[in-house]
Amino acid sequence: MPRQTLARIHLDNLRHNFRLARERAGSARAMAVVKADGYGHGIERVARALANDADHYAVACLEEAQALRQAGLTQPVLLMQGVHQASDLPLCEAKGFTVVVHHEHQLAWLEAGDARPAVWLKVNSGMNRLGFAPGEVRAVCQRLESAGVTVTGAMTHFACADDELSERSAEQTAVFDRATAPLAPINRSVANSAAHFRPGQAMFDWTRPGIMLYGSSPMLGRHGPELGLKAAMTLESRLIALRQLSPGEAVGYGETWRSTRPTVMGMVCIGYGDGYPRHAVNGTPVGIRGVRAPLIGRVSMDMLAVDLTDVDGASVGDPVELWGENISVDEVAACAGTISYELLTNVTRRVPRVEVQDGDWNG
Ligand SMILES: Cc1ncc(COP(=O)(O)O)c(C=O)c1O
Repeated sequence: MPRQTLARIHLDNLRHNFRLARERAGSARAMAVVKADGYGHGIERVARALANDADHYAVACLEEAQALRQAGLTQPVLLMQGVHQASDLPLCEAKGFTVVVHHEHQLAWLEAGDARPAVWLKVNSGMNRLGFAPGEVRAVCQRLESAGVTVTGAMTHFACADDELSERSAEQTAVFDRATAPLAPINRSVANSAAHFRPGQAMFDWTRPGIMLYGSSPMLGRHGPELGLKAAMTLESRLIALRQLSPGEAVGYGETWRSTRPTVMGMVCIGYGDGYPRHAVNGTPVGIRGVRAPLIGRVSMDMLAVDLTDVDGASVGDPVELWGENISVDEVAACAGTISYELLTNVTRRVPRVEVQDGDWNG
């Protein structure tokens, strides 16, 4: 009998979130960002769940693009970091992957070789991570055209789209627009999830929603449900022990929490070895019997403690929601000093993913 610690993946919620992204993209089309193993939900599972809705996927690297083909998906795939070696270009051409070119060395690989995959240009509009300077764009396009490479798109990425008060996305959009307008009629793309919620944001031809597909808020300080999103993952475990603590007794490594009243303490069968964040502070909520109960003490590798004093009738075997539809992953992330992206992608292989469809689930 396996321990009942698992991540339920809600396929209908994934589809709901993608449809919301499409709606918010307006006349632009949305490509589903499924990198990092579908943000921890399983790249093949996510891509298949969205196959009837999404007509384009985006991934970080070639291995992820190949996983989509191996899963039988035939939609176009954008490799957002392009290739990491020249010898990968023929495979990209053969499989119909579109490669991003963000740097001189990738340009030189294309010029020197025979492979001619479709190419999107990455423009550095101010984030200063990857991409050509706006002033270099025309010359880069000319070099690619001379080499017989078709530039079918251009993209940029926002640094501060999650901050509703920041003007940076508007500034980056203007920089990108000026640099790429002369390249018309190519495909242009700027919007990550957060940009879908920015009033007045230009969406161009394609948007690239990632985190919102998984139900988490892309906006700082907001939770997914406020934005109409539904959790795509419920991380769930069970109570495996209960204990009465007297005032003054401590729990766990380092004795970082001590009871101030007679306390019913419960142990939950999940820890940082499963990807639950070790830095979650005392008071981080978990859901038990429809009640929010606080985490107490340090998270261990395989278990964590909660205060069940205010949970009527809690008993061994009760399911515990670490995050999901009732406890937002955004809230847990804030309690652990991180972001939902890190929590979702850090759920380890020890945790089985169980697909849920229309309220039912099957393993
Ligand atoms: C280039 C690029 N586009 C789109 C996305 C999706 O971003 P988000 O998950 O915030 O929607 C990412 C994510 O890191 C990215 O790197």
